[in-house]
Amino acid sequence: SMDRIELRSGNQVVNYVYIARPLSLQEFLKDIDYSVVVTDRDKKPLYWRNVEAPEDKTWDQIAPEDKLQLQKRMKNMYEVYLGDTSDQLGYIYFTTPKYLPRIRYLVLLELALALLLVGFSSYGLFLLNRIEKDTLWIGLAKETAHQFGTPITSLMGWIDLLREAPEEGISSPELSKMLDYMTTDLNQLKNIASRFGKVGSQTKLVPTELHTILQQTVSYFKDRLPHLGSKMDIHLISKIPGIKVMLDTELFTWAMENLIKNCIDAMSQKGGNIFITATHNNKYVFIHIRDEGKGIPHSQWKKIFEPGITTKTRGWGLGLSLAKRIIEEYHQGVIKVLTSTINEGTTIEIRLNIAEQEEEKK
Ligand SMILES: Nc1ncnc2c1ncn2[C@@H]1O[C@H](COP(=O)(O)OP(=O)(O)OP(=O)(O)O)[C@@H](O)[C@H]1O
Ligand SMILES: [Mg+2]
Repeated sequence: SMDRIELRSGNQVVNYVYIARPLSLQEFLKDIDYSVVVTDRDKKPLYWRNVEAPEDKTWDQIAPEDKLQLQKRMKNMYEVYLGDTSDQLGYIYFTTPKYLPRIRYLVLLELALALLLVGFSSYGLFLLNRIEKDTLWIGLAKETAHQFGTPITSLMGWIDLLREAPEEGISSPELSKMLDYMTTDLNQLKNIASRFGKVGSQTKLVPTELHTILQQTVSYFKDRLPHLGSKMDIHLISKIPGIKVMLDTELFTWAMENLIKNCIDAMSQKGGNIFITATHNNKYVFIHIRDEGKGIPHSQWKKIFEPGITTKTRGWGLGLSLAKRIIEEYHQGVIKVLTSTINEGTTIEIRLNIAEQEEEKK
């Protein structure tokens, strides 16, 4: 594998010299997974790697369109001048490894998250200062901070995974899957932040087809019911297609989520079904949220709507007080325990006003 050089005296070969060539830059570049072009002093490419031109040919052998392509690529690459001491090589052009720009994007994401948290905490403090006596606000701030936990932990996990990425990068289907998950988590953060902002301000009720909102809520939960352990299912029976209700969709959905979460908690032992039923008369829409869970003692039917009342080790006792505030204060509706039997189940009723006809025609 060594090179042989003939030593001549006139026409006679008098001796041979064998030399081992040092590993050339060209060979070294074979192991590299990003794009490199090496040129001479006049910027004429000598050899290249991972660019859209055949690598086994020289500059003079490749097709004109390949030449164009190569020169176009070089414009977007980093240029390093090799200095006057190198006798043949002039410049090296290179790009960063494929996954580097993405990591940079992730660092930005992390920064944005940090800012979001700082901003949110200051907002919370500001609110606490202003409405010190309203304990629901303190609870709400805690609840929201609690809600932020899940998506943030999940995002941090993905970021760690990406940081520990192998040398050769991450395959793009895997990466796009990760990015999908991260987008979902970010959207969830956005929702939570926007809900929190809404409770503090005047809400605007708009005529909304409640049927559609209920469908969305139910299908969201259908995909997310616990499927380990006890079996659960959720069903919607709606007799109100086309009926419009004055609604703040975001807040109403939040209330529904809290009610459904309570049903899931109540059935965590033995599983069962959740039925969401919607009916109406001339004036009102009635939504029943029924579960087959552990039930509520009659003496507690009113009390559970007060903030801080909970029977759960990890509960804040906020879900129902928030739901009550949303239904009664923001929507001028009514929420109550309609019926409940120990070990058989509970039905919560929400009553909302049907939107005025002329309101609809505007
Ligand atoms: N569907 C239900 N079945 C049985 N008990 C219920 C049901 N809904 C509420 N409760 C009782 O009412 C209590 C108060 O509910 P609420 O949603 O306000 O708070 P929480 O669920 O305990 O905690 P948080 O919702 O803040 O996580 C619960 O702890 C539970 O004992
Ligand atoms: Mg709850």
